[in-house]
Amino acid sequence: MRKVLVTGGTGYIGSHTVIQLLNAGFEVVILDNLSNSSKGVVARIEELSGTGLDFIEGDVRDHELLRGIFAKYAFDSAIHFAGLKAVGESQEKPLKYYDNNVTGSIVLFEEMMRAGVHKLIFSSSATVYGDPGYVCYSETTPLAPINVYGRTKLIVEDTLRDLKKAEPRWQIALLRYFNPVGAHISGRIGENPFGVPNNLMPFISQVAIGSRPKLMVYGNDYATPDGTGLRDYVHVEDLVAGHVAALNTLGDANSFLTLNLGTGKPYSVLEMIGAFERTSGVKIPYEIVERRAGDLPEYYANADLAKEVLGWQARLGIDRMCADTWRWQKTNPAGYVID
Ligand code: NAD
Ligand code: UD1
Repeated sequence: MRKVLVTGGTGYIGSHTVIQLLNAGFEVVILDNLSNSSKGVVARIEELSGTGLDFIEGDVRDHELLRGIFAKYAFDSAIHFAGLKAVGESQEKPLKYYDNNVTGSIVLFEEMMRAGVHKLIFSSSATVYGDPGYVCYSETTPLAPINVYGRTKLIVEDTLRDLKKAEPRWQIALLRYFNPVGAHISGRIGENPFGVPNNLMPFISQVAIGSRPKLMVYGNDYATPDGTGLRDYVHVEDLVAGHVAALNTLGDANSFLTLNLGTGKPYSVLEMIGAFERTSGVKIPYEIVERRAGDLPEYYANADLAKEVLGWQARLGIDRMCADTWRWQKTNPAGYVID
């Protein structure tokens, strides 16, 4: 049976990925330091998949711990989600972000190398593109991130491109996510941000449940049809299916993949509010405020390459994204704290 190490596996995208991996017959070991997730996720993953897994609480930067893990388990591959992702915080605490995201990745790759594990999927981001001056990003769009978080992702991508050149036996997929939203259809797992959410969808759902009074819409004076920002929201279940497809596609003929994972169709903030109200039946009070520094008016994926290489495309639309988010939020108003 194929065994996968999933770093950051109790986090939002990691937890959904682990369920699909278990359902697809992989054995999974999660390594997570719980800096942005809860241990209760593990029991829910096991409940939903009907399968057990090993959970190790620890830090990806801990060389000795990783050496012990690779000595204990015979992994075929690793999926590396562990990292910090708040853009604003990354500008204020650059050392924390470079250490966690860059050092953490290098420690993992070194220990993989030492253990002879050479198959890797890395969570990259559309943030690596920065502001190219046009709105539809393909994988050949120049890489020029405009914030610290994005630069940590680009440094790890560059590290992996260089590693592949030096060590051709590595099989690596860099997956660039657009805007992951939604939750498992059961409502048992979902996005559980600690503190004030930075992203639109968790903020909307916390307003809907009544834990925040209203949504701040960051600007309605962009040159977009309704003046609010347009983004390519992709359902987390679709996104995760792209990881399973990448794991199954990586091989001698496809040994270095760089792929956008998005739907190719952008929606505005007001359209997302409308879809959430329509699917939940809950009114979302909002106020238009100043633009958020660093936001672009619009961008979305050209995801043709993922379709060509993986046979993957996103299937779930914004109503499913909102309905699934709401089911999770409404049945877990305070996240995983009940476990
Ligand atoms: P998340 O915060 O929910 O999950 C990340 C997990 O990694 C958390 O469980 C956290 O506790 C763990 N972690 C962080 N640092 C660690 C460390 N040093 N050692 C061990 N565990 C550590 O975030 P997510 O949304 O699931 O994102 C997963 C990955 O995808 C991240 O690398 C993120 O940068 C990337 N990504 C996310 C988005 C998004 O919008 N959610 C978009 C593009 C890329
Ligand atoms: C943000 C990050 C990006 C990261 C992505 C996914 C910034 C500048 N960019 O992207 O690097 O890859 O999250 O984690 O932080 N909005 C509101 N009110 C809110 C929140 C958001 O109006 O309370 C608007 C934003 O202005 C934007 C849209 O909703 O137009 C989506 O915002 P968000 O979910 O934060 O994602 P991005 O800005 O695309």
